[in-house]
Amino acid sequence: MTSERPWPLRAGGIAYGGDYNPEQWPVDVQLEDVELMKEAGVGLVSVGIFSWAQLEPREGDFDFRWLDAVLDRLHAAGIGVALATATASPPPWLTRAHPEILPERADGTVLHQGSRQSYAVSSPVFRDYAVRMTRRMAERYGDHPALAVWHVDNELGCHVPHDYSDAAAEAFRRWLRNRHTTIEALNSAWGTAFWSQRYDSFEEILPPRSAPTFVNPTQQLDFARFSSDEQLAHYRALRDVLREVTPHVPTTTNFMMTTANKWVDYFSWSGDMDVVANDHYLVARDPEAHIGLAFSADLSRGVAGGAPWMLMEHSTSAVNWQPRNSAKGAGEMVRNSLAHVARGADAVMFFQWRQSTAGAEKYHSAMLPHAGRDSDVWRTTVELGGHLRSLAPVRGSRVTADTALVFDYPSWWASEMEGHPTQDLGYLDEVMRWYRALWRRGVTVDVVSPGSDLTGYRALVVPTLYTVGDEDAARVAEAARAGASVLITFFSGIVDEHDHVRPGGYPGAFRDLLGVRSEEFRPLQEGESLTLDDGTRADLWSEKTRLEGATAVRTWADGPLAGLPAVTRNDAGRGHAWYVATRPDDDGVAALVDAFLAEADVAPAVAGLPGGVEAVRRHGDDGTSFLFLINHTAHDVDVRVTGHELLRGQDVATRLTVPALEVAVLREH
Ligand code: GLA
Repeated sequence: MTSERPWPLRAGGIAYGGDYNPEQWPVDVQLEDVELMKEAGVGLVSVGIFSWAQLEPREGDFDFRWLDAVLDRLHAAGIGVALATATASPPPWLTRAHPEILPERADGTVLHQGSRQSYAVSSPVFRDYAVRMTRRMAERYGDHPALAVWHVDNELGCHVPHDYSDAAAEAFRRWLRNRHTTIEALNSAWGTAFWSQRYDSFEEILPPRSAPTFVNPTQQLDFARFSSDEQLAHYRALRDVLREVTPHVPTTTNFMMTTANKWVDYFSWSGDMDVVANDHYLVARDPEAHIGLAFSADLSRGVAGGAPWMLMEHSTSAVNWQPRNSAKGAGEMVRNSLAHVARGADAVMFFQWRQSTAGAEKYHSAMLPHAGRDSDVWRTTVELGGHLRSLAPVRGSRVTADTALVFDYPSWWASEMEGHPTQDLGYLDEVMRWYRALWRRGVTVDVVSPGSDLTGYRALVVPTLYTVGDEDAARVAEAARAGASVLITFFSGIVDEHDHVRPGGYPGAFRDLLGVRSEEFRPLQEGESLTLDDGTRADLWSEKTRLEGATAVRTWADGPLAGLPAVTRNDAGRGHAWYVATRPDDDGVAALVDAFLAEADVAPAVAGLPGGVEAVRRHGDDGTSFLFLINHTAHDVDVRVTGHELLRGQDVATRLTVPALEVAVLREH
């Protein structure tokens, strides 16, 4: 991704800091904040995200004095600001004066004020107010020396990814006219001959509001696309004001990849971002949450087109919004932070700087916890600041990979709809099953969209790419013909971009490439599993497949399909195409990944590392490379490497010990 407004504006290494909400504190605490930020090495803070009601306490009555003082103080301390548009939460006077801006659920429930994000993103009234507020911020602070980057709104679509209000209905109809042009084309795309759903005009169309039973799936898919586009339209509207008033300042907004929101197609946003920013929170109940973190970071880099990106938020310890909010273990906060850096982050930021004592997030950890400076969290905050200073040379370097995993938001949306062969399919689960196996193998993976350039990868994993247009399907086939090994899993290529089945046998779009043809899906019942001929257990899915050019790699050993292929491999030009027509258990996936990577001749970043040790490289323009070694195990690990270890400042001649639960970063050349 290239931008005329490169981030960061100021010199320096990896940016370090967090959300800073000074409006929650008296001035003496704010003065202490700045001193402690200096102690921790904080250089960038996000300010003003939820400040609208403080900046404009009554309509048209602005009070910027307190924010002026905050920004001046930060600047005097050498701390830059990711300044928000302050539009993430409309103040109560606004929702009272204009209740029509409130969003609605599918069942008509109105989402009122009293929390945050109580706005319908399609509301022209809200848009006007948000644009006006953004302009005021840009005009007031555009030349402020602390301003490093604009932070538009906050986690757009986080709580209200779908709005079903009248404002949304109107905008949806506009969007549909644009996409389908005529009502006949829409009828055909939506398959409205079914169940008497034919529309005579666009005026008759509604969002997919609560209905007696299954709502038209293409209507749902288009509504998901529309909803993602509406968030982007809002971003653009505010971004355009910022660019007009402050053309020299880069703009971003914080994405929520994987942790919360499947409903924004971030790949479609990448061209609009000066720098990609992501928020990531560990899933506490997942014993391998660090692999989910790695996926989120690789996806952030994919959305950024390989460029460095910002980790805008993560947590120093527990969050407060999961059912049970585990505190982080020894070294975990540093491992988490540096794992993001290893995978391309040039900023490490937290929610939030100082832990709140009031409000809904008072039990969410922060850089400065309730306990104050005499706490392990604070000591780790300071330690991390030191580490990031040592990693300054890493800034701007890039991660490269021979392996890509194709990730597709519309397939996520469409594959999980009702009325399908099974309700047990979870798109992200399928993706993570394969990603985890690659992570365990130590292989670096680019997470890319099907619309991106796939040539150049040696290995391509395509899990459950359910909805796929002809061009994207051709791109996958082309990668194989050009020499890649491509592995496609079940329920891929089934429907086109309108969610219409590709007839003639499954997996429609990939039948020729894979050299197989399936005539029937045979999903398994909950708890049921079958055996493959190598002893692997497989569950969730089977299908009646026959070979049409491919060879069988695994066949079913039992059940109604005994003897028929379950995993196949086909020659495709200079490469190969594998099909996995079921869901093997973890050992089965690992064995397939081993065979597949061996065929593709893909090596791990460092060979021979014990399980639980993560290794990723970033490459600088000048031929320098930085090897990140992250030891998630409780044992010290010796690695044969040469270079200079940056965190401890030691030369390494042949062998480096990465202590249990710690990280080492080696400058290799
Ligand atoms: C999100 C929001 C923050 C905060 C954190 C808590 O990322 O952007 O304002 O609510 O969650 O984890």
